[in-house]
Amino acid sequence: MFKGFSRLSKDEKRQILIREGLISENELTELIKAEHSQVEFRKRLEGFSENVLSSYHLPFSVAPNFLINGSLFMVPMVTEESSVVAAAAAAAGFWAQHGGFHCVVKNTVKVGQVFFEWEGEPDQLHKVLSELTAVLNEAAKPITENMEKRGGGITGYSLVHHVAVSEACFELHVEFETADSMGANFINSCLEIMATEIPEFIGQHFPDQPEAEIIMAILSNHTPECTVECYVEAPFEALGKFDTNGDGKHFAVRFKKAVDIALNDTSRAVTHNKGIYNGISAVLLATGNDFRAVEAAGHAFAVKNGKYVSLSGVTLTDNSFRLSLEVPLAVGTVGGLTRLHPLAASALKMLKEPDAKTLMMVIAAAGLASNFSAVKALTTSGIQHGHMKMHLVNILNQMGATSEQVEEAQRFFKDKTVSVSAVRSFLTKNN
Ligand code: MEV
Repeated sequence: MFKGFSRLSKDEKRQILIREGLISENELTELIKAEHSQVEFRKRLEGFSENVLSSYHLPFSVAPNFLINGSLFMVPMVTEESSVVAAAAAAAGFWAQHGGFHCVVKNTVKVGQVFFEWEGEPDQLHKVLSELTAVLNEAAKPITENMEKRGGGITGYSLVHHVAVSEACFELHVEFETADSMGANFINSCLEIMATEIPEFIGQHFPDQPEAEIIMAILSNHTPECTVECYVEAPFEALGKFDTNGDGKHFAVRFKKAVDIALNDTSRAVTHNKGIYNGISAVLLATGNDFRAVEAAGHAFAVKNGKYVSLSGVTLTDNSFRLSLEVPLAVGTVGGLTRLHPLAASALKMLKEPDAKTLMMVIAAAGLASNFSAVKALTTSGIQHGHMKMHLVNILNQMGATSEQVEEAQRFFKDKTVSVSAVRSFLTKNN
């Protein structure tokens, strides 16, 4: 465990990462280069997009002390929101002393969809499905061969008749394993090959019927099977420090009530889940993963029973508290930006080069840590206390404070409530 990590200087923090073997001297150079936006680094970023005017910087942080299934991680996070990293780190530090995060990857299956229109009988298609899939497997072989060597590939097919769209609307639903990659390019390439084969196959087998016409072929970001379960658990007395009267059970019961509200009220559930994604998306961004895809999947998962509800839940026994979470996480540690963005590569190094399953667990733990800190703050001191403390430097910078004034203000506000007007009056008095 690292005690007082946040109070160390930036250089001291970097040196700890080097000492722990989590980054190399070369990676440290990349971190420093990124900080100073050197030409070479910016050129690399410019290749990621179109019509680039500049590069848009966000802080690259680390939350220490994530104990996950018995292993300690320092978790890289990229976020603009002041209190997110501090909140995640505080929760991680607390839970590291109480058994840490317990995570299990349930499944890693990904899905692709080829939609087509065909005026024939659905039963006729069902009868030739296994023949069709053999043809498709063969056609996709040049792409799947490599993935199979890494333990992935096409794992299943089914035919869906979308009568609600039209009598002629079909989907070939394809399941994939993508090893340590998120697999978007692999899946889409396979699907596009299949899209050229399907009309040909149907034409050959049903020459008397109208031709099949492809509508589109694309992976689905809905990954309700590709999930991680994560929980933290402690006896009530461990939670006493969060209660004004030191009553851990009182804290736990209030915490559960807050989560139960999010399990019943959609307006609250959306904000509650946003707090979970504060942690999840920050790690996704740091590791070069597609946060829009994961967020879309998470929100669809939250509404799986017909009503949008909290992704986390609390169970209490006679003497213990358990906060748990299940989230879909289709992520990768190879491919995409994970290696192209130098800081994403450093982030993965800091996580000791995890495989995709380990990264899924780390991300889920970051989500649960964020959720714990948010609901803890909401049911105790309120959210603004911690948030405004972290936001202090932003307010000072906006008001044009000098570095001396920033230091003085940080000392002054240590035990006081931060507000825009309080900071303004502090600066007027300390000009
Ligand atoms: C703020 O970014 C996140 C929270 O609103 C989450 C929550 O309300 O649970 C504090």
